Amino acid sequence: MNSSILNAIYKRRSIREYTAEPVAGDQLHEIIKAGIWAPSGLNNQPWRFVVIQDDSIKKNLAEQTHYGHIVNAASALIAVYLDTNAMYDELKDHQAAGACIENMLLATEALGLGAVWLGQILKNKNEVNRILQLGEEYDLMAVIAIGHPAKRDQQSRRKDIDEFTLQLIHSFKK
Ligand SMILES: Cc1cc2nc3c(=O)[nH]c(=O)nc-3n(C[C@H](O)[C@H](O)[C@H](O)COP(=O)(O)O)c2cc1C
Repeated sequence: MNSSILNAIYKRRSIREYTAEPVAGDQLHEIIKAGIWAPSGLNNQPWRFVVIQDDSIKKNLAEQTHYGHIVNAASALIAVYLDTNAMYDELKDHQAAGACIENMLLATEALGLGAVWLGQILKNKNEVNRILQLGEEYDLMAVIAIGHPAKRDQQSRRKDIDEFTLQLIHSFKK
């Protein structure tokens, strides 16, 4: 099947090593635009973004995660937040944030960039808010590290599809 969307889904890998080349502002704009076109319950669009390119802020954020080397190496970071004042349903708003983040990862793939979804940093999300000077109404969902890939040979595996299908009422054939 030839579909650019399916190609991006299957070819996207978490990229954790980057060259020093900066990511252009219009590329970051496009990535966020892809994020905001994700679906959300009642179309409430509860996501908010902070773009970080400043080295000293990156360094401070790097200290908040085991994956600080990735944070420091990335040309840009996008912190993805939920605005709790814009939320209407805890579960559905978190699902929307996940859809938004995945759209952003697929956009980086489409732009020939590399990115990784950083979640481990959430354990220090209050400290991240302090560094970014954000109030507690903003709830950190992820930090996306973005850059030009240093290499593109990342491997990843998925279990066989049969392991995920719980009850096949109608069996399907390939
Ligand atoms: C909720 C979530 C949190 C993640 N947190 C981290 C993280 O803190 N550090 C990291 O290097 N990768 C993180 N990842 C990336 C996963 O490790 C990666 O998606 C997984 O190993 C599959 O590899 P692939 O993305 O290359 O297909 C996270 C992914 C998700 C969805």
